[in-house]
Amino acid sequence: MRKSLVLLSCMFFLLSTALFAQNTNIGSAKCKMCHTGAAKGDQFKKWSESKHAKSNTAVGVAGKPECEKCHAPVAEFKAEGVTCEACHGAGSAYKSAMKPLATAQSKGLIVPNEASCKKCHDATKTPSGHKAITFDFAAASTKIAHKKP
Ligand code: HEC
Ligand code: HEC
Ligand code: HEC
Ligand code: HEC
Repeated sequence: MRKSLVLLSCMFFLLSTALFAQNTNIGSAKCKMCHTGAAKGDQFKKWSESKHAKSNTAVGVAGKPECEKCHAPVAEFKAEGVTCEACHGAGSAYKSAMKPLATAQSKGLIVPNEASCKKCHDATKTPSGHKAITFDFAAASTKIAHKKP
């Protein structure tokens, strides 16, 4: 009797973790392991030298949730600012299933587009008194470009 109860609760636990499993953020250091080097497009280096990687240090942001939602949007990795996973989605599931692209996407990989940028680059969403925001998707994409050569 007791044994079957234990078994039943084990099964319930496994089922619920499978049903409610969520992708979790792994941090840019993990992406760096594979996305480094000129031949691959130097994604880590390009990002780490960009303003996104330092956005959490912009004046007045620290400790303010209303600022951090754009400047440090990944709760577990606030120090990374607008980090890889803020744009590409939490990587725990896709990091080891990146090829082909469709598989990675089915595991949560996001290929960002203009709408993704405008979650933050939108003057109507910033608090009053914020620096003016103008956004030209083509020009901004060129500034952050990190495609494979
Ligand atoms: C174990 C190695 C590995 C890790 C870790 C890894 N990737 Fe990848 N990633 C790859 C490979 C391999 C590809 C396939 C393309 C290629 O050959 O460069 C890829 C492709 C991609 C693509 C391009 C999809 C496309 O074709 O448009 C994105 C975006 C990406 N990875 C983001 C990330 C992010 C963000 C992380 C960290 C959360 C990450 N990757 C972690 C190996 C990895
Ligand atoms: C809706 C998203 C969003 C919110 C919320 C937001 N910001 Fe920003 N912030 C941005 C974007 C996007 C930029 C970059 C604008 C540009 O240069 O085009 C920016 C730029 C800045 C800059 C200029 C940084 C530099 O290097 O010139 C400062 C300072 C700043 N924000 C502070 C704040 C503070 C403080 C708050 C909270 C009171 C806040 N932001 C809330 C999106 C946001
Ligand atoms: C501000 C959003 C943003 C951030 C932050 C960001 N990316 Fe991207 N990434 C993009 C966009 C946009 C593309 C181009 C998507 C497309 O193919 O149109 C891209 C493309 C890629 C690609 C595919 C390159 C190719 O050859 O097609 C890889 C790999 C990648 N990103 C990895 C990373 C990694 C690793 C980080 C962090 C170190 C990172 N990205 C940070 C927005 C971002
Ligand atoms: C989660 C919020 C967020 C998303 C999504 C986002 N950004 Fe940003 N971006 C910011 C913040 C915040 C800054 C300001 C960083 C700072 O200066 O401190 C910024 C700054 C920039 C800058 C530097 C501004 C300049 O003129 O020097 C460029 C370029 C940029 N973003 C392009 C993009 C593009 C392209 C996308 C979409 C592919 C994108 N961003 C998506 C929040 C975001």
